[in-house]
Amino acid sequence: MTQNPAIAALLAAFTQSGDDRLLVSALGLAQSDGERRAVIAAALANDALSNDDNTRKLLAQSALDMGDALDALALAGKAESLLAIRVEALLLTGEVAEADSLYRATIAEKPIHEDPDLEDRIEEAKSALCTPATNVVGFAAAARGLRGEQRSEREEQAAARAMFTQTGGRTMTFADVGGLTEVKKQINRRIVTPFKKPALFAKFRRKAGGGVLLFGPPGCGKTLLARATAGECEARFINVPVIDVVDKYIGEAERKLAAIFADARRDPPSVLFFDELEALAGSRSAHNNQSHNSLVSTFLAEMDGFAQANEGVLILAATNMPWGVDAAFRRPGRFDRVQFVPPPDRDARRDILAIHIEGRPNGSDLDLDAIAAKSAGYSGADIENLVNTAADLAIEETLGSGVEEPLAQRHLLEALEETRATTLEWLTTARNYAKYSNSGGQYDDVAAFLKANGL
Ligand SMILES: Nc1ncnc2c1ncn2[C@@H]1O[C@H](COP(=O)(O)OP(=O)(O)O)[C@@H](O)[C@H]1O
Ligand SMILES: [Mg+2]
Repeated sequence: MTQNPAIAALLAAFTQSGDDRLLVSALGLAQSDGERRAVIAAALANDALSNDDNTRKLLAQSALDMGDALDALALAGKAESLLAIRVEALLLTGEVAEADSLYRATIAEKPIHEDPDLEDRIEEAKSALCTPATNVVGFAAAARGLRGEQRSEREEQAAARAMFTQTGGRTMTFADVGGLTEVKKQINRRIVTPFKKPALFAKFRRKAGGGVLLFGPPGCGKTLLARATAGECEARFINVPVIDVVDKYIGEAERKLAAIFADARRDPPSVLFFDELEALAGSRSAHNNQSHNSLVSTFLAEMDGFAQANEGVLILAATNMPWGVDAAFRRPGRFDRVQFVPPPDRDARRDILAIHIEGRPNGSDLDLDAIAAKSAGYSGADIENLVNTAADLAIEETLGSGVEEPLAQRHLLEALEETRATTLEWLTTARNYAKYSNSGGQYDDVAAFLKANGL
């Protein structure tokens, strides 16, 4: 079957003796895919293929490189150390779900085999397959019509995913948001209850219409709260990163916006969330161009339309820069209610620490109160970063010692040294607005917060 007499002799000797060093030599001599396949065939024909993972690896990798996924799988057997080859081979055969579960099961058991590159490839394969959620289909179809050209399905899905990054994710509720007790109470009273009991509110002639604008320093849970609010309302959550609308789709942005609003109306109850609104709502002089102005007009017209017919749709937005939001956005029926989302206080920081530590191996010596006391000024995102940094330290120790070191107090303390609080800068800016530009009392909550914290 092979032209090269040296390879033929080695394979014959292997068939006789079962000594797989002969296979390794034969593979080393092979110059063409045909010769390599002959070596692999001889290996597969021998039931007693050695348990030596290195030989298996060499042969399986060679099969994989030639695209012979099934041969690669057969050669790799169940060896954990050949996880990458087995996963790649499964992906090559289109068994994405199996590749994913094999990978997950293996690293759950033996985290040492974790492989970020491999993970990326699984994710890539998964998203190439993923059937988009219904609202994304609606959007994708609209987008296709609007562009007047067929985009590849893959591109389409990527665009839709970028647009609705959080649709289809796990439903969140207030239990997922640490601290912010007062804010949650306010949201419940001002947003969730009216949304769930529109008839009662109508009776008292309280309109439930208009949007709510969440504002506060970055990383303090605005996006998280919006998502949790949708969960509390038992509504579909449609997350629209405003920057995607503004930046990526110049020319078609207006129609894309209209399609998003229409989608929210079509399948209520839903929460339409415009994240980082300042990208759109920036003072008009800053965006002194026609296309931006027409986008703003479209947005406002859609919102005004909602003020008339908002059955089952709630509009939320968030911004780190409320002072950059044009007053036109704050008129009645638009974002006429604002909600300050402050940095977490000490109790909140302890809760957020607990939320982010949960589910990781952790030691009995953890004193989260002590860490909370030392992390004034940390945002929720800063705390998440702190816990990740501490986890990295524990992983480093685990890799060094070969014994699993749980997340311990010393890791958190060291992580405190390596990370820093990011909310102070925002508060400094906000203080000036609260002092000098607080017409209509829109920064009263900020002023109260600053005062309560001696800032
Ligand atoms: N109150 C909180 N409870 C739990 N995690 C939080 C909280 N605030 C922030 N985080 C963490 O920080 C990340 C960023 O928060 P995010 O809601 O995106 O902040 P913002 O939208 O205000 O910039 C969240 O994904 C979450 O992991
Ligand atoms: Mg955000």
